[in-house]
Amino acid sequence: MVIDFTIIFITFSLIAYFYFVFFKRNPNRPSSVNLPPGPPKLPIIGNVHQIAGALPHHAFRTLSKKYGPIMHMQLGQISTVIVSSPRLAKDVFKTHDLALASRPTSLLSDIVLYGGADVALGQYGDYWRQLKKIITVELLSAKKVRSFSRFRHQEMGSFMDFIRSKSGRPVAIREKVTEMINNIICKSSFGDKCRQQDVLIELVDELGMLVSGFYVADLFPEFGFLSVISGMKSKLTQIHKSLDRIFDEIFEERKRKRSTKGEAEAEDDLLDVLFTIKESGGLQFPITENNIKAVFVNMFTGGTDTSVMTIEWAMTEMMKSPNVMQKAQKEVRETFKGKKTIVEADLQDLVYLKLVIKETLRLHPSLPLLLPRECIEHCQIDGYDIPVKTKVIVNAFACAVDPEYWDDPESFKPERFEKSSVDFMGTNFEFVPFGSGRRMCPGITFGVTSIEFALAQMLYYFNWQLPSGLSSKDIDMTENDGAVATKKVPLTIKEARFIRQKLKTAEVNFRRRLKNVQSHIRHKLCITRQRFWISKELKSSKSPVSEPL
Ligand code: HEM
Repeated sequence: MVIDFTIIFITFSLIAYFYFVFFKRNPNRPSSVNLPPGPPKLPIIGNVHQIAGALPHHAFRTLSKKYGPIMHMQLGQISTVIVSSPRLAKDVFKTHDLALASRPTSLLSDIVLYGGADVALGQYGDYWRQLKKIITVELLSAKKVRSFSRFRHQEMGSFMDFIRSKSGRPVAIREKVTEMINNIICKSSFGDKCRQQDVLIELVDELGMLVSGFYVADLFPEFGFLSVISGMKSKLTQIHKSLDRIFDEIFEERKRKRSTKGEAEAEDDLLDVLFTIKESGGLQFPITENNIKAVFVNMFTGGTDTSVMTIEWAMTEMMKSPNVMQKAQKEVRETFKGKKTIVEADLQDLVYLKLVIKETLRLHPSLPLLLPRECIEHCQIDGYDIPVKTKVIVNAFACAVDPEYWDDPESFKPERFEKSSVDFMGTNFEFVPFGSGRRMCPGITFGVTSIEFALAQMLYYFNWQLPSGLSSKDIDMTENDGAVATKKVPLTIKEARFIRQKLKTAEVNFRRRLKNVQSHIRHKLCITRQRFWISKELKSSKSPVSEPL
């Protein structure tokens, strides 16, 4: 999520002109409030230059070492507070959860999410509460997630077949894992794969990049022309139109099906659940088709890259630490010993693999800065004022590597969770990869089940190696731009089972041939020996005759 800094400077003079000509004051600008400390600011752009060119979660963490666990930064026109310690994260997620329960408005939310009609970026209020309840209880409950296990089985089966078909050739697993996760979400949402899957994946990917909130149009929302000249507005409009068309097609088809089918034949996918809720008419705030579309945008953007990246980072860390890989593999193979197919119910016995996933989420939280909150009621954190409209960011990554809470925090050690009760359910503020409080992720069960299942199968069926000539030291651990912490260079690995099998077959053939040669030699020796004895016998039987009487 490197900020489009060039555009900021190109437009800097324009902004300065308007700013000074009209003496337009930033409505968020604090007057006599006691704001947290922060780095010195430049006029107009504030602190943007201090995080430009870097990954914001790393830049914020570095700055927090100097300015403290709660910092104030002026990011363009946005007055922002950044919290970087578990102690203060608790204040955001627990003490002031309600006062900080909203999300800042954004161009993305306005254009792509039908004016914030969704859950993830929607503003806090009665309508939002109703929608979040529907998502948590009706769409993503443990029972509902279990009911989609057949989709996970199908999709993971295809993924394993794909790996087999590669016969030991190197594979950049990300593309296929993305397809698998996207299909699981599609089938759970609409009962089938999406016809325009490639387009959908691309759109979701693009949205993932734009959701960070650090683009020039987000930083200077009052200067609407910036969203036009930066190209952001047209990009978002394009994404919105394409997504809307895809959903429209699916919705129309479903409406036709529902009108011809009886209730008993109803599908059990998420679209049907939402259509039924919509048509039942019992809601305090009736939901529209646009609301439903916005919810699906959330499901796809919230559920795809987060799960894909956790799988990729987990495999990457295991490739870097062969002892961890061996331990996880041993557990999986002992648990499923002799089973041809693995069923989801068996996953609960995989204790060590769960630790590997936790450690992956600690070192590589998919959304290192979570999603930003917005203050709707003045409050105080650590004695500092948080005025209404302030954007509040919790640096979950900084909390997860805080040396006050973690030993050797930068190392990948799943064992650290072995005798610890710390988990990701939102009550341990040093480990909040899914957030916490009212805005916590409702897709934990959905996401974690797919991640566990995929990793378990990958470890059960295959041994993995890096492409020839590479060692674990060569693995690039750099992160990419964007709200989701993706791995910059996709992990490429090859399965070694095929190679082992080849070696085994060669060995068996060699032994067989050796045996043949041995028996041939033995046979020849035997014949030679026999001939020798026969000739000796003959000689000895001849000699008495030849002896003179
Ligand atoms: C490894 C998988 C996942 C990770 C790491 C993850 C992480 C997160 C995080 C960090 C947030 C923001 C929480 C906050 O602001 O405090 C979030 C929100 C959200 N996630 Fe997930 N997520 C995952 C999977 C999913 C899945 C599978 C879905 C849906 C199918 C989903 C749907 C959502 C939604 C709708 C929100 C918005 C919640 C709100 O604002 O109230 N997530 N997720």
